[in-house]
Amino acid sequence: MASLGEDLLGVVNKLQDLVFNTIGTDSGLDLPQIVVVGSQSSGKSSVLENIVGRDFLPRGAGIVTRRPLVLQLINIPSTHEESSEVPTESQSPEFGEFLHQPNRRFHDFSEIRREIEAETARIAGTNKGINRSPINLKIYSPHVLSLTLVDLPGLTKIAIGDQPADIEKQTRNLISEYIAKPNSIILAVSPANVDLVNSEALKLARQVDPQGKRTIGVLTKLDLMDHGTNALEILSGRVYPLKLGFIGVVNRSQQDIQGNKAMVDALKAEAEFFRYHPAYRNIANRCGTQFLAKSLNITLMAHIRERLPDIKARLNTLMGQTQQELASYGDMHFSGKEHRGSLILQLMTRFASSFIASIDGTSSDIST
Ligand code: GDP
Ligand code: NA
Ligand code: MG
Repeated sequence: MASLGEDLLGVVNKLQDLVFNTIGTDSGLDLPQIVVVGSQSSGKSSVLENIVGRDFLPRGAGIVTRRPLVLQLINIPSTHEESSEVPTESQSPEFGEFLHQPNRRFHDFSEIRREIEAETARIAGTNKGINRSPINLKIYSPHVLSLTLVDLPGLTKIAIGDQPADIEKQTRNLISEYIAKPNSIILAVSPANVDLVNSEALKLARQVDPQGKRTIGVLTKLDLMDHGTNALEILSGRVYPLKLGFIGVVNRSQQDIQGNKAMVDALKAEAEFFRYHPAYRNIANRCGTQFLAKSLNITLMAHIRERLPDIKARLNTLMGQTQQELASYGDMHFSGKEHRGSLILQLMTRFASSFIASIDGTSSDIST
């Protein structure tokens, strides 16, 4: 069953690419994904980097994430036998690939960061404006669980510099659009050193998921809470009701980042924080980044299974429309652009059929 789940997510990921490449995100075909929301500097990008286990996201004070980043993590088997030597960058099987640059593999993760920055500036400009068009990045690694995550611009209260005056409204609309989709799981990130009633993430999530059925709470900055206070009540689910609960994490501080603290050391320090903390040691196995990643993977798989009948129905409709459109081309002689369009439609139809077949568990020769 587990391998079926992984296969299923693989197919969903491919379908997501196809949707992005061809019919766009307004197709009504919303695929299951985890959407990360929170106010600016709550720790969203840090949480994502911890889940991936690598540094690759642009960061800094102020609004850094200015376009949605759709991040597909794909687990691949380790290629070489365990060696005592530390693998060099070029030997490492981990790499990233952007949808807008399909033939280039990024083995250097700092280059991934530069490419995100460049691609952000290309569409969203070099000022602090945001843009709704997503950047699509895949990371292949033996060290990740397969997941699809979306990083979004954080909520800001006041426009700064040459930001448009309605930046808050723009950001709010963009976030709301992503989390309103019933196929989205909301990862609501709140810093533990700010009162939970002021959490922008939870306020937003509540509007689209009032019963807290598809919202996972993440509490960051547990290390920055006032001395003598702790978040045990929140983490135990006694303060704010979420069916999927709250998970506490400790990310790298700004000082850690400036001092280039290695990711592995940060994860080790996080584990120790929970294991030896008087308030958290009894729930340490339900805290931290590793537990968060595992929970997200399980939740996403369960969610995909639950949403399958609906996805299948939508795909069937889409295929019907596509076939009609194809038929309307008839035997006419295609010019370059139309020809490409028809090829894409055919590809889409073929893919959708095999997707449905894989859901039904029936074999299909449509791909020939
Ligand atoms: P984002 O704007 O929500 O993406 O937030 P970032 O991930 O960029 O983090 C904002 C700042 O908070 C950075 O300086 C991080 O180092 C810091 N930070 C994030 N999480 C934690 C945490 O758990 N503990 C500490 N001490 N600092 C954190
Ligand atoms: Na930030
Ligand atoms: Mg960010």
